[in-house]
Amino acid sequence: MALSITPLTPVLGVEVTGIDIGDLSETDFTAIETAFEDHSVLVIRGQHGIDDIKQAAFSRRFGELETTISSNPGGEGTNIAVFSNLDADGGLIPPKDKRMVFNSGNQMWHTDSSYKPVPAKASMLSGRVVPPEGGETEFASGRAAWDALTAAEQAEYEPLIAVHDFLYSRGLIDKSLLTDKDRRELPAVRQKLVRTNPTNGRRAIYAGAHASHIEGRPVEEGRALLRRLTDLVTRADHCYAHQWRDGDLVMWDNRAVLHRGKPWDESKYPRVMHRTTVAGLGPSVEDGKPLAA
Ligand code: OGA
Ligand code: MN
Repeated sequence: MALSITPLTPVLGVEVTGIDIGDLSETDFTAIETAFEDHSVLVIRGQHGIDDIKQAAFSRRFGELETTISSNPGGEGTNIAVFSNLDADGGLIPPKDKRMVFNSGNQMWHTDSSYKPVPAKASMLSGRVVPPEGGETEFASGRAAWDALTAAEQAEYEPLIAVHDFLYSRGLIDKSLLTDKDRRELPAVRQKLVRTNPTNGRRAIYAGAHASHIEGRPVEEGRALLRRLTDLVTRADHCYAHQWRDGDLVMWDNRAVLHRGKPWDESKYPRVMHRTTVAGLGPSVEDGKPLAA
């Protein structure tokens, strides 16, 4: 087995073959880390023997892991988030069940944990049971969007701060999904609208479903800008759609891409995904300014 890294599209994504994430040399790890910084999405094939322990150990090589929020159904241990339509008895959970409605938030373009003060650096999603059709995960390049802006637009957007709020984004699905406890646990946070990769200097538009509005602008005006930017990030030529195969582990850079899950026939097929999330190094805005009330 030899490591091979092949581009999937001109703007993002590579396919990685010839490795076992549980037995990876320092040299191969460095090549993978570089590909992650440069290409934003890694499709690592052939990880058939993966379990939560192996996934968490590989993920920790990229940094400290996040713990899942308490409103997430959770998995074995708080470092694993499980997105599954199988209940404890192995039966299919009905699509209208609250757990499925809650997780359907993942079908909006978003970036993981942007509603936390320290947003996620990377996510790793392991397809433990994948449907034969549908249920793709799509990725869109915030870098390609940045590159498509005019110099005047870049200068205008670079200093802006977006307010990210989990209650705003989940409220788009159903306002009754979240409780007062969720509100106390998850106050809105400030994030840079444009993020710069510290290793290669590439800039990316950073927004997605949790971004509610733009600080210092009227809410509706900010929302209109966020919608325009999301449309640009998710333009067809900025996207890669991942069709899941058995043994796939997909890793992405939350600082540089948006992603979303596509629907599948939940009444027919199980889909079980386990996610680990690597925390960012710090807040995207370092000035510590509190949110305006
Ligand atoms: C996630 C996510 C989408 C999917 O795991 O963070 O958004 O396709 N998943 O399951
Ligand atoms: Mn996600």
